Amino acid sequence: MNTPVEGFSKLTKTQKIDWITNNCTKDPKGTKQVLEQYWNMDPRVQKLHDEFIENTVSNYYLPFAIAPNFKINDKLYAIPMAIEESSVVAAASKAAKFWLERGGFKAEIIGTEKVGQVHFIYKGDKQKLSRFFDSVKPELLRSVASITQSMEKRGGGINAIELRNLTDKIDGYFQLHCTFETLDAMGANFINSCLEQFAKTLKEEANSFIDFTEEEKNIEVVMSILSNYVPDCLVKAEVSCPISELGNTDMPSEDFAEKFVRAVNIAKAEPYRAVTHNKGIMNGIDAVVLATGNDFRAVEAGIHAYAAKDGQYSSLSHAKIEDGIFRFWIEVPLALGTVGGLTTLHPLVKLALEILQNPSAKQLMQIVAVAGLAQNFAAVRSLVTTGIQKGHMKMHLLNMLNQLGATEEEKRKMVKHFKDETVTNASVKEALERIKSK
Ligand code: MEV
Repeated sequence: MNTPVEGFSKLTKTQKIDWITNNCTKDPKGTKQVLEQYWNMDPRVQKLHDEFIENTVSNYYLPFAIAPNFKINDKLYAIPMAIEESSVVAAASKAAKFWLERGGFKAEIIGTEKVGQVHFIYKGDKQKLSRFFDSVKPELLRSVASITQSMEKRGGGINAIELRNLTDKIDGYFQLHCTFETLDAMGANFINSCLEQFAKTLKEEANSFIDFTEEEKNIEVVMSILSNYVPDCLVKAEVSCPISELGNTDMPSEDFAEKFVRAVNIAKAEPYRAVTHNKGIMNGIDAVVLATGNDFRAVEAGIHAYAAKDGQYSSLSHAKIEDGIFRFWIEVPLALGTVGGLTTLHPLVKLALEILQNPSAKQLMQIVAVAGLAQNFAAVRSLVTTGIQKGHMKMHLLNMLNQLGATEEEKRKMVKHFKDETVTNASVKEALERIKSK
């Protein structure tokens, strides 16, 4: 049975594996085999992966796939995606091809500003704090000069520092609300280093500010941290075409366009649907964010907060019909990096960026937003026409067959059989049994 362990991180990899196999699994030998099966054959590559995090015992694989034919601002891209869900890459590729024949995707950057905050408590005279802040601002900036120097040389750095009074929310609660331009870096380390220095300088300067009473000098810094809510680090991606060119489904184009817009409007009006609608968007976004070594948790948190920015969780995408033109677009906040982090370390991340023609962070924002829009288009298109299960289950067929232990020959026969049949758990089981018994 699982028991507490002291100093686990200090054990060697073999000792860690022994501990896990003996304490957490029923079949130590089998467990060891599974863990080792996923080690990289090249010890240098394995060491690299071991050192990404603590206590590494194996590697966790996800399929790394390519969705080709994305035309974005008249440039062609093959988009790498890391994801486990069977139908996502197929859907992205299908949507890319569909829009390739209709002018492709347009994408534009609306802003690239990142945010960080020093949260502190001050219980004295508010006007004095305001005067103190005005006088200390140049010193705050001076104190981070060594951190910001190289970013500034490239055109980035600190955009603004603002004192925010939030005492209506929490007694004595103020913030230094800071905005940053981090160019091609996601910027988390840069921002957090600046903020921690701001906090230090703020405290030191408060201590020697002559207008403050002894109590007022004692500013309590609670924490200094970047915000993953980046509503001004925003990208828009869009597709449009005359309704008559939408064709390609079993229903007339006009009906399809109207049904599609209605489906998007339902997601705008109703949170239960909005969450699933946006989940479909995140299928595309997360897969590219992950393949390019970016922080998908940060992206997820920021995007969902943005989806609720007007007080109710709502659709990230929008659709309308105007003068016979169908327009479908998305606006998402994306704090991404194409330098730093894993970008030069993880061989597959490096490759993903190369496949994307080594984009700048702004270009990557556009590509990721397009992947989200494409995924959303494919999902809503299926939902309002055939229903989602048809395509989804077809893509899932191989997983089901693998689970049922089908041989390669049986798989081949089953794929052929289900070309025009509905895939369900029951129908697959039944057909496989029939084939096996022949
Ligand atoms: C499944 O991963 C995603 C969908 O549920 C998205 C949607 O409903 O729009 C199909």
